[in-house]
Amino acid sequence: MTNFIAVISGKGGVGKTTTVINLGCALTQFGRDVLLLDANLQTPHLALYLGSPKLPHSLNDVIKGRKHVRDAAFLHPSGIKVVPASLSIDHMKSTKMGNMADILTDLAGTTEIVLLDTAPGFGDEFRLVLTAARKAIVVTNPELPAVADAVKAVQLAEEYGATVLGVVINRVDNTPSELSAKNIQMMINKPILMSIPEDSNVQVALSIQQPLVHSHPESPAAIAFKHLAAALTGQVYKPSLSEEHEQKQASPSSQAAFFSSLLNRLRGDQSAGAQVIQGKAH
Ligand SMILES: Nc1ncnc2c1ncn2[C@@H]1O[C@H](COP(=O)(O)OP(=O)(O)OP(=O)(O)O)[C@@H](O)[C@H]1O
Ligand SMILES: [Mg+2]
Repeated sequence: MTNFIAVISGKGGVGKTTTVINLGCALTQFGRDVLLLDANLQTPHLALYLGSPKLPHSLNDVIKGRKHVRDAAFLHPSGIKVVPASLSIDHMKSTKMGNMADILTDLAGTTEIVLLDTAPGFGDEFRLVLTAARKAIVVTNPELPAVADAVKAVQLAEEYGATVLGVVINRVDNTPSELSAKNIQMMINKPILMSIPEDSNVQVALSIQQPLVHSHPESPAAIAFKHLAAALTGQVYKPSLSEEHEQKQASPSSQAAFFSSLLNRLRGDQSAGAQVIQGKAH
């Protein structure tokens, strides 16, 4: 069975692509078969973030019927499979996302988990992707505009028939002005899957076009992405002692969110995370 999960936000720039890449990399490291699909045709970033701007095939070829989706995937050196969207402006203008459901049907059974990177906003693309994927994770930052748009994203995703697995709070810096995980959970009314700390290594990984989880596995955000992968698959991830040390120094709140999510599960909220990705359990 293939799990299709769209990573959504409403507001732009909150960390969807970063989450898709690093959650995908962490799941791959945990032995899952993962494919990343760039369902952001206007402003695609997966190929840029992963250093593959000159790929011969893209999702645009698949949408136009020129290529089977299986043959449009490339294997990144970190082990993740990726179907990028074209960076060309001509391809962007000439590609309309209409047959996403058919494309996902073609992928069904070929891989275990498909993470779909999505565009900000709530246009036609959003509707088509959410209708096809049927599962979503919402990414937000701990600030009001991002959370307000996340609330809308959740409501629309559900209207389009998708189940929202939970919330990733990204770029948590523990400053007094930030919204707390508790308040964010109250506003969005979905379980907090993980808090990812603000981490300058994210930009370093971007500059060398590697997933952070691959290039900086002991960095605070990488550890949090691994916790997220573990929470979604219901498996246990125990950071090494050096990883724990890094995390304690940099991110007390990711632990807090982890335990608050755990608490929800203990209270019996089935949607709160215990293996929300179905299939092989480790
Ligand atoms: N935890 C983090 N710590 C530091 N910087 C981060 C973190 N997460 C993301 N960033 C940075 O924030 C910027 C936006 O991230 P990203 O491109 O993943 O957002 P997005 O939601 O995909 O954006 P868009 O809506 O434009 O597609 C990037 O420069 C990225 O390196
Ligand atoms: Mg993006």
